[in-house]
Amino acid sequence: MRATAAGVLGLEASLLQSGMGGVAGTELACAVSNAGAAGCAGGYKLAGGALSAMLDRLTAGTDRPVGVNLIPEVVGPVELDRQVAQVLDETPERVHLSFFGMPDDAVLERVAAAERRLVVQIGTVEDGVHAAARGAVVVAQGTEAGGHLLGTSRRDALVAALRDRLPDACLVASGGIGSPEEAERALDAGADGVLLGTAFVVAHESRAHARFKSAVTGADETDTVITDVYEIGWPGRRHRVLATTVTADPQQPTKFIGKTVVEGKPYLVPRFSAAVPTEATSGRIEEMALYCGRSCGAISDEVSAADVVAAFARVLPGAEVVKTRERADSYVG
Ligand SMILES: Cc1cc2nc3c(=O)[nH]c(=O)nc-3n(C[C@H](O)[C@H](O)[C@H](O)COP(=O)(O)O)c2cc1C
Repeated sequence: MRATAAGVLGLEASLLQSGMGGVAGTELACAVSNAGAAGCAGGYKLAGGALSAMLDRLTAGTDRPVGVNLIPEVVGPVELDRQVAQVLDETPERVHLSFFGMPDDAVLERVAAAERRLVVQIGTVEDGVHAAARGAVVVAQGTEAGGHLLGTSRRDALVAALRDRLPDACLVASGGIGSPEEAERALDAGADGVLLGTAFVVAHESRAHARFKSAVTGADETDTVITDVYEIGWPGRRHRVLATTVTADPQQPTKFIGKTVVEGKPYLVPRFSAAVPTEATSGRIEEMALYCGRSCGAISDEVSAADVVAAFARVLPGAEVVKTRERADSYVG
């Protein structure tokens, strides 16, 4: 017997929204949590007053469980430590920490000591086993995923391999899930819940630029590519994006192709920037990093976050304890 993602995180449905930097602001996170799933705000490079302002909006916008996503390899250990301390100091217990990739053990210990719930997205069996030993909800990311890629395995192969090693862990599948039917396939592989990124990019409450949203709804899986070209600000990790003129010709000069604003501060956007185009971005949107999973093939409409949650909640477990596969099968026989 083991707990579902809903059981561990205090949700109505075992559904997690990815804390996508730039795209998943507090409006999206709160809408998802208020609908009964786990909303998550992207922390990305926010620090100091800008992070505090985001945390204030997050805790004011929902009284349900909700998360803050941080990316250890983007900010480095010193800045991550500051971000984690700030989240723990400035938010109530119902706010969980979500990491993209393994943080150092010291960070995991700090989160555990504060008795906060912990979600870690990983791409290998080794990292999944390590994260589970630290009490994390383990999000197994397959290469179908939109955004940066943590491993080289397909989603269901990774989920099944992790389930073999971790019969009692809470496992969440991520990558390529754009429909309830695909979510059911991930559950069949051994997951206790699912995490969605691209499906929430197109939600009304997402901060993605309008032309980014329409590019996603108009695309199918063959329009996505794995590349390493959008490296300014986050070097050295492959990512799945919609194919663009930049992925087709990475030899173009690095020059500014747009402008954006993050928490009130203006920035220029260079070609090859890892930053996604948001509603505050102007310029050559179609050349920017349009992170997108193979899930886009099943995503054709812009809908509200609550509609996404309702559609997937139909097939996902609630907070009940689930029987192991062996026990469940014996009921059938
Ligand atoms: C636009 C976009 C931005 C993303 N940014 C983040 C991020 O900041 N932090 C994170 O943990 N994952 C991020 N991801 C990856 C997701 O957590 C997840 O692995 C992926 O979205 C799952 O595949 P799907 O997009 O097919 O649902 C991002 C994904 C997308 C599509």
